[in-house]
Amino acid sequence: MSQLTLRALNKSFGTNAVVKDFDLTMEDGEFISLLGPSGCGKTTVLRMVAGFEAPSSGAIHIDGNDVTALQARQRQIGMMFQSYALFPNLTVAGNVAFGLKVARLPRAEVDLRVNEMLEMVGLAGLGGRYPYQLSGGQQQRVALARAIAPRPRVLLLDEPLSALDAKIRVSLRGEIRAIQRRLGISTLFVTHDQEEAMAMSDRVVVMAHGRAEQVGRPDQIYNRPATRFVAEFIGALNLLPATVTDPAAGQLDTPVGPVALNRPIARSAGAALHLAIRPEGLHILLNGDVANGPTFTGKVLDRDFLGPIIRLRTEIGPGTAMTVDCFNRDGASLPEPGQTIRLAVDAAAVFPLD
Ligand SMILES: Nc1ncnc2c1ncn2[C@@H]1O[C@H](COP(=O)(O)OP(=O)(O)OP(=O)(O)O)[C@@H](O)[C@H]1O
Ligand SMILES: [Mg+2]
Repeated sequence: MSQLTLRALNKSFGTNAVVKDFDLTMEDGEFISLLGPSGCGKTTVLRMVAGFEAPSSGAIHIDGNDVTALQARQRQIGMMFQSYALFPNLTVAGNVAFGLKVARLPRAEVDLRVNEMLEMVGLAGLGGRYPYQLSGGQQQRVALARAIAPRPRVLLLDEPLSALDAKIRVSLRGEIRAIQRRLGISTLFVTHDQEEAMAMSDRVVVMAHGRAEQVGRPDQIYNRPATRFVAEFIGALNLLPATVTDPAAGQLDTPVGPVALNRPIARSAGAALHLAIRPEGLHILLNGDVANGPTFTGKVLDRDFLGPIIRLRTEIGPGTAMTVDCFNRDGASLPEPGQTIRLAVDAAAVFPLD
């Protein structure tokens, strides 16, 4: 239950700058994800917050106090990693009790807290088992209980779900979030899974090459990505090259003809950009449907059945592809590959990218 502030953090290994001018203010009780491709510096940021790695420059504050020079064990931080990292020679209860014993809590209180934690993570009654007697999901529950038992000021989670299978992963992420909310622990979560980041977080930091590209709520990151990197990293995206012809009226020229957005566009006439369109921002026009936005004519190239949605790849002009998502509605007739269809795009869902 603390505020964490990272100010102009930099980290270089030799000449390799891996974290660059990284700023973040995490509010009390907030859940923030660091999301980005492998090697972008997520773990390095976490290790600096934990005190396992000293920043090359910059400062880390917890509740207004500068902790940059403090040892890891003085920072009151809980951590959980991808690999289970439990003590194999200690029981489940012994693992959860570890930090409490280090903190010299009285025996009775340790026992009480261990039981409370095991109950919270759904492992009541399993305190006597050893890690090798648990499934991967159960081991991660123990790791979570161990991390939160000492009531850390900040919880750091480094891809704690990535070794688990898809179903466990989704249920455990919901449980982690519920526990985090209940305890109100400010949490920094690292993942390279965009869906996980968006599902769990109050805010997401999208990272690339050691920098924060964008910080925002999941809907802001998804609907209004600040950069092309963010737009392409999060979700599927169609990009249509365009030239602005009338900025005030939002008119553009594209390889498949003029497009009118009917809203001002903050670029000058003649500016070259890309129109970004999410696959769910397009829909198929049936005979008689009237579009109230731009339309395209496309030929269906192929069709992927994804369960709740069906993803069509279409060609709307020579060499210009457009991916379209349709809901899988019972009885809806879907176009076959080779068929020509009319597509309408909701102009409000189109955003310009440089
Ligand atoms: N101790 C180290 N010495 C030298 N280079 C390091 C060290 N730790 C990390 N790096 C480098 O820093 C960069 C960022 O690594 P980091 O582990 O922070 O990435 P990440 O975003 O967590 O990636 P992943 O998603 O694969 O875990 C990488 O290029 C890595 O090789
Ligand atoms: Mg990492």
